[in-house]
Amino acid sequence: MLTPSKPPCATAARNTSAPSPALGEASMPPRKHDSANPVDRAATGSDSIDASVPNAARVWNYLLGGKDFFPADEQAGEQMIDACPTIAEAVQANRDFLGRVVTFMAGAAGIRQFLEVGPGLPAFLWNNTHHVAQNIAPAARVVYVDNDPFVLACARALLTSKPEGAVDYVNADLRHPDAVLNAAAVTLDFDQPIGLILLGVLHYVPDDAIVCGILTTLADRLPSGSMAAISWAAVSTPPVNGLQAALRVLQDLGGPAITTRTPQTLERHVTDAGLQLLDPGVVPCTWRPELDLAQTPAAALCCCVARKSPKR
Ligand SMILES: C[S@@+](CC[C@H](N)C(=O)[O-])C[C@H]1O[C@@H](n2cnc3c(N)ncnc32)[C@H](O)[C@@H]1O
Repeated sequence: MLTPSKPPCATAARNTSAPSPALGEASMPPRKHDSANPVDRAATGSDSIDASVPNAARVWNYLLGGKDFFPADEQAGEQMIDACPTIAEAVQANRDFLGRVVTFMAGAAGIRQFLEVGPGLPAFLWNNTHHVAQNIAPAARVVYVDNDPFVLACARALLTSKPEGAVDYVNADLRHPDAVLNAAAVTLDFDQPIGLILLGVLHYVPDDAIVCGILTTLADRLPSGSMAAISWAAVSTPPVNGLQAALRVLQDLGGPAITTRTPQTLERHVTDAGLQLLDPGVVPCTWRPELDLAQTPAAALCCCVARKSPKR
């Protein structure tokens, strides 16, 4: 856990190649603060970190079994788990979906460029988008975009590219998609297919019309042959036990509001944006699983992968 004098990025810094430990497994000793490290210097004493209220990226990090959270984030995470016992499994399933979909995009689909908005704090240093993509294609180029400066500080310090490829870090807001695209164009070639990754981020945008506008703007500028992977907090049938209560707890503690939407809404927005859903459509975070579907955790998030058809 972080203390207000201990900066983010502790977990990821010590998890360079290990496979993901089970949630709650004993962890290695905390990394020592290093005043020569720009992230540590930036984080310590900064007034832009408010440790007293739960934060989107830090609560997610707690639920993923990371260590980059403050007591307020841990308290929120624990109360969310009390309200919705399957929530940590769902967040982990969402992360596993990231690994599978980037493997699919960089592998079978041959995509060499990725734009990820809302990557969060890296809980481990082996399963983030550029790790997975550059493992398959070392020259892959990845742009991470977030509107939390400390997520970006951690990304800059810890999510470094293989020499053959490139990784860039952009401070921008998804609600201004043109700014996101313009910044990404510094690193990515918008004449070649791009893998757009929007996992667990659109549910922070409450207005459906704005979500639709964001997806349409992004999809319009993506080159033909590009793909988009999207997940968000879901209203599923039957409802996930305690999910709404867990999200209320987070908000009551001063954390971000999360809007749940149906899988049908995700399908509609994707289709309206001019993208074609790939099989099996919008599903819980079981998209093309190696797992036995019967063992899939509850559907607190739903996800899909869609494609922008090549021009005829
Ligand atoms: C819950 S975390 C998701 C982490 C990761 N994508 C995953 O699914 O495991 C949400 C991330 O989205 C970022 N975020 C939230 N709203 C955003 C916005 N409007 N623009 C850019 N990033 C945003 C947060 O700072 C955080 O890093």
